[in-house]
Amino acid sequence: MHHELECIGCHAHYPSTGNCYSCPHCGDLLEITYDFNALKESVTLSSWKLRPLSVWKYEQLLPIEEASTRITLGEGGTTLHRASRLGQAIGLGKLNVKNEGENPTGSFKDRGMTVGVSRAVEVNSKKVICASTGNTSASLAAYAAKAGLECIVVIPAGKIAQGKLVQAIAHGARVIQIEGYFDDALRSVLALAKSNPKLYLLNSVNPYRIEGQKTIAYEVWDQLEGSVPDTVIVPVGNAGNLSAIWKGFHDLNQIGLTSTMPRMIGIQARGASPITEAFKSGRLEITPVKRPETVATAIKIGSPASWKKALLAVRESGGLMEEVTDDEILDAQKLLARLEGVFVEPASAASIAGAKKLTDLGIIGSDESVTCVVTGHGLKDPEIVCEMFEKPRTVKQSELEQVVSVL
Ligand code: F0G
Repeated sequence: MHHELECIGCHAHYPSTGNCYSCPHCGDLLEITYDFNALKESVTLSSWKLRPLSVWKYEQLLPIEEASTRITLGEGGTTLHRASRLGQAIGLGKLNVKNEGENPTGSFKDRGMTVGVSRAVEVNSKKVICASTGNTSASLAAYAAKAGLECIVVIPAGKIAQGKLVQAIAHGARVIQIEGYFDDALRSVLALAKSNPKLYLLNSVNPYRIEGQKTIAYEVWDQLEGSVPDTVIVPVGNAGNLSAIWKGFHDLNQIGLTSTMPRMIGIQARGASPITEAFKSGRLEITPVKRPETVATAIKIGSPASWKKALLAVRESGGLMEEVTDDEILDAQKLLARLEGVFVEPASAASIAGAKKLTDLGIIGSDESVTCVVTGHGLKDPEIVCEMFEKPRTVKQSELEQVVSVL
């Protein structure tokens, strides 16, 4: 679909040419805009009804012109679970869980990468790069492999979960570990992409990635048969995804498919929660956390690149930011796995932990319809379960009957 880039700060407009990740005028982040009046005419529910749920179902609202350049592994179309057992346990009567772990590489990043890597192909890039806490690198490596592009991923040494590292290696990415944190890795790849235009950057500062991820909102609306939840809760790290989901609801509103909008709640892990801190103290800017610490390695980020977009989304929607502790995250991971059969990695469980905390505090009402987005599969990070959950018992064969009889 024809589109332009707009700066979120000074609102300057730019044509969609070349690699551009920030406003040449003021340096703020860019987002993609469409002619919504034209879309009102062309997007009809009847044209969507017959197509199966997937990112590309909504191609009319995506910024890729040519279907032939599309790089897809079958992303999107994830289950929205009616989580009644979990809801009962935490005091919510209408709780749904959108399981993004069902995507091809096991996280929501695939929605962004199918669009972002298609764009890289469209602009003739041969080499893609990202910094990552793990999932972005796993996803980019897979989509680059599918597209036949060279892929470089830069990760903080010793700080990403094993499952994600092996994905990037298996898909043939050049994996470079650097000392320091994700924030240092992101700063380095931003500088590299700036000095070398042949490198196509696929972190969420790239607005094409956000376009793919916004389809989470479209799918939730679709799965709720054309209505939106009162509240949507999302784990927040670099803050691209919360901004993307809000943009998705915004699009639906702009083209007249919904008149109501959810409030957006972002959940960070305590120890890595600069946006929550800024929100709670009413400040307009974040103060980066120098040494972020949390068991949820995917969101162990001290200086989120899209903090401004996320704060705007939360404030515009009448939502809020909250933080949860590592213990709350691990409890939520266990609850979701044991009450709903949905196994997610710790960062993903932050949205569930946030739902519980805010319901306990009375900030979310028991009769509100709430959708928690869980962002990545539990198998990404098996070490944490081995470390923190019960260990299996070893018994002699001859003792088995007796042991089982008392379980
Ligand atoms: N959940 C998971 C499982 C993630 O991997 C991430 C981010 C988030 C939540 C937060 O999303 O950054 O858009 O606010 N992972 C990135 C990565 C940073 O490199 O894989 P966000």
